[in-house]
Amino acid sequence: MNLRLAALIPLVPLTAVLVSGGGAAPAAAPAGQDTTRLFAPAWEYPRGSIAPVRSTAGMVATTDRVASEVGAEILRRGGNAVDAAVATHFALAVVNPEAGNIGGGGFMVVRMADGTTAALDFREMAPGRATRDMFLDAAGNVTERSVEGHLAAGVPGSVAGMWEAHRRFGRLPWAELVLPAVHLAEGVVVHQRLAESFYRNRKALVKNAETMRIFTRRGEPLRVGDRLVQADLAATLQRIASSGKDGFYAGRTAELVEAEMRRGGGLITQRDMAAYKAVWRDPVRVRYRGHEVISMPPPSSGGPTMGAMLKILEGYDLPRMRYLGPEHVHLFAEASRRAYADRNAYLADPDFVPQPTARMVSDAHAAARRATIRRDRATPSAQVAPGLGAPPTEGTETTHYSIMDARGNAVAVTTTINSLYGNLVTVAGAGFLLNNEMDDFTSKPGVPNQFGLVQGAANAIAPGKRMLSAMTPTIVLDPSGRVKLVTGTPGGSTIITSIVQQVSNVVDFGMDVATATSAPRLHHQHLPDSLRFERRGLDPATVSRLRAMGHAMAERQGFQGDVQSILVTNGAMTAVADPRRGGAAVGVAEVATGVVQ
Ligand code: GLY
Repeated sequence: MNLRLAALIPLVPLTAVLVSGGGAAPAAAPAGQDTTRLFAPAWEYPRGSIAPVRSTAGMVATTDRVASEVGAEILRRGGNAVDAAVATHFALAVVNPEAGNIGGGGFMVVRMADGTTAALDFREMAPGRATRDMFLDAAGNVTERSVEGHLAAGVPGSVAGMWEAHRRFGRLPWAELVLPAVHLAEGVVVHQRLAESFYRNRKALVKNAETMRIFTRRGEPLRVGDRLVQADLAATLQRIASSGKDGFYAGRTAELVEAEMRRGGGLITQRDMAAYKAVWRDPVRVRYRGHEVISMPPPSSGGPTMGAMLKILEGYDLPRMRYLGPEHVHLFAEASRRAYADRNAYLADPDFVPQPTARMVSDAHAAARRATIRRDRATPSAQVAPGLGAPPTEGTETTHYSIMDARGNAVAVTTTINSLYGNLVTVAGAGFLLNNEMDDFTSKPGVPNQFGLVQGAANAIAPGKRMLSAMTPTIVLDPSGRVKLVTGTPGGSTIITSIVQQVSNVVDFGMDVATATSAPRLHHQHLPDSLRFERRGLDPATVSRLRAMGHAMAERQGFQGDVQSILVTNGAMTAVADPRRGGAAVGVAEVATGVVQ
């Protein structure tokens, strides 16, 4: 079956679409290659083990091959990168239900070939009846209701986001971008990646009757080769195709959302749905070693926190350090703990709380933070206070796709329903899962959320407010102002550190896209005071040295990251999907694939 036709030609049934899970399987490292030169000897993805895709005519990198094919076909039809992003987003809502969504929200960073940059906030919003203490019990303790069930859902923003992005930048007709997803929802054959996701989440998927009906066969997870039919979702997507944003925020879909909320004790009303708006924000722009890094401002903490880290790191000669040696890892962790201390205290929805974004990414603040870093010792997080004055006292799972078209327009989108399969509630009759994004607010200052983030009162719940995010869709321009890197990832609180590493791997260490993406990842978020590193990602001598310097080392199996990056070198785009999850990069006209040395 020609996947391209299957995904796009109306009336062609998709029941026979069978796709392989994942992109190119990691190949064995070429004989004789010194795989230890960059990474620890036992690291899972030695240099040269992943084959990137190359194209000069456009590229789509997502966590799912079908969604990447849909986006690439829109580019082939003459759509631009934003058109492809819209079609990809709706396709992911069907074929990647654990995170792709219309019931969640996200952020888009755009850099058009004419130099226009834009940042679109389509983050979920607290319902009008939300209250600051809604997740506390009578004794003042935080309950699980911010994570599971109807109360956990914020007003979804994805459809408004896609609509607004298309209104400003799109070229192809809206319906043409939504219809591929309608056809996918009518039926696809479950592929490996999807089957693995259903299996891993089999206990969660039976907690809600409607979720169980759609994603399991009488409680048993769907397997490779089974058909996944999402008829209600197809009808909802058809309303969106026909009526645009109103097909979701008004009429039948909004009624179904309110009815679901009434049934389950949730708060979202038709009035909340009608009030939702996607908002254009000024992107965060940071100079880093001659490059310009463009990313998302609050209500995402991604841009400011990444910017603060990069500005601190810019003061050190990273390119001359041994990659992931003790000195490099130490400085990364120290920069990170300081940037997260600021993030957790100050950042929030800018429409509710004044934001110190410019100060946070300034050279002066970076110098002040750097002055507190010792080269030979870790600073305990208890001694690292927020660095921009008194913070306000009152008031993943996620997915990312990167797209470029032949003209050089670039789009980075990170979108989420927060946990895998969101709040586990499917809106009956409408067929889509709702988010549990309310957990990204501070339910109680000082008490960690599901990502262990200890956040402050600035991010307290209030009606109509958007919860702080860590999503970091990012575009890097080279010193002559041309797009060099389009990137982003899921991973909750680890998103920011993963993207700082991706940027640094390319800018500081000159890595190709495959090597940068497969490199072992690090994470420090101030609290808990631990330096996480991927299992076998650091050599034992480095771990011992870092311990001796006072770092609490935490070796973890598989960070949640799923970095999707496009790197432009000499006018050609190369891309890989993160080998940790098995997505796929698809080039519009793939000129070659192979192992990059
Ligand atoms: N829900 C994860 C984030 O927005 O950071």
